[in-house]
Amino acid sequence: MELKYLPAAWKRGTDFLGTRYAILCGAMTWVSESNLVSAISNEGGFGVLAAGNMPPELLAKEIQDTRRKTKFPFGVNLITVAPSFRDHIDIVVREKAPFVFFAGSIPSGKDIEHAKASGAKVLCFAPVLSLARRLIKQGADALVIEGNEAGGHIGPVATSVLAQEFLLNITEVPIFVAGGIGTGEMIAQYLGLGAAGAQLGTRFVVAEECIAHPRFKEAFIRAQARDAMPTAQFDSSLPTIPVRAIVNEGTKDFNRLQLELLDKVKSGALPREEAQIKLEEFWIGALRRAVVDGDVEHGSLMAGQSVAFVKKVQPVREIIEDLVTAAERKLAEMANGGPWVAAGTVCR
Ligand SMILES: Cc1cc2nc3c(=O)[nH]c(=O)nc-3n(C[C@H](O)[C@H](O)[C@H](O)COP(=O)(O)O)c2cc1C
Repeated sequence: MELKYLPAAWKRGTDFLGTRYAILCGAMTWVSESNLVSAISNEGGFGVLAAGNMPPELLAKEIQDTRRKTKFPFGVNLITVAPSFRDHIDIVVREKAPFVFFAGSIPSGKDIEHAKASGAKVLCFAPVLSLARRLIKQGADALVIEGNEAGGHIGPVATSVLAQEFLLNITEVPIFVAGGIGTGEMIAQYLGLGAAGAQLGTRFVVAEECIAHPRFKEAFIRAQARDAMPTAQFDSSLPTIPVRAIVNEGTKDFNRLQLELLDKVKSGALPREEAQIKLEEFWIGALRRAVVDGDVEHGSLMAGQSVAFVKKVQPVREIIEDLVTAAERKLAEMANGGPWVAAGTVCR
């Protein structure tokens, strides 16, 4: 399909990323390795490797493997609270990863500077405007805003609200929008608000090129939006970061673990920080169990509400084509007076 509207609408994003399309496949721990990442980048999108809790040398190997599989740009997502975070930064600098994403918490100015030392562009997740402004001052080249419709660890605010707050107030750097996006039509709407591009995760889990276990993919295909629920925090004496996942026995396992740890924290038998580490370790193990081993009962099925738009296993090329075609069609409609004109239901 010849694109008339999209190239201008997401030019800031494609210029920044060096891609044909400003569609990112967000990093997904255990899921986003060299096969998926290179496939996304080869098809004109932007793939992001998930460093997660990887041993540092494995991360180096993943970066090298991705480079071998694609000549196009890709990113590496580092979790600032991961035990190997410091080694991970050293690896992305040593391997000259072209784009570095900081996730997990707010990186320090020094971390940003360090990552940029090798020429990398740095993207940060910004939860509130004041922090976004600080991150930009500290050198962040672009921001990602991720609403709580997303899969995995989430914040409290919806994508639609973050989009209005950030896109209407911050113009200094490109902003990519994530969370709950499953269609090209929605991408067009966020571009209309000023987004540089869109980041999706859940929809790409079922890509043919994704190494996730077939049972993990089947669970996504079966699920409805309402099945992807955030976890609860039972008591403020043990704060937990909510995780959105398709509800299964693993959700109950997490709840039981939280209650057990809460008892220990309240009785003084376990420091709060140690209990929080144990909760985070639960997720890393449970996600691996589902993605790698295919245990969809007790493993974690982290998924966004956008799971509603996951219908079948498809090659990356087809998923991206669907998104691009629909976004272009929607922008054309908007430029020509809106769908109501085409449908002939409103006279102007
Ligand atoms: C299984 C899974 C694992 C994820 N792991 C990470 C991660 O390691 N780091 C990160 O920054 N985001 C992670 N995310 C979030 C995605 O990168 C992306 O921003 C999100 O999926 C976008 O929203 P969506 O799920 O509605 O598509 C994960 C999401 C999923 C579904």
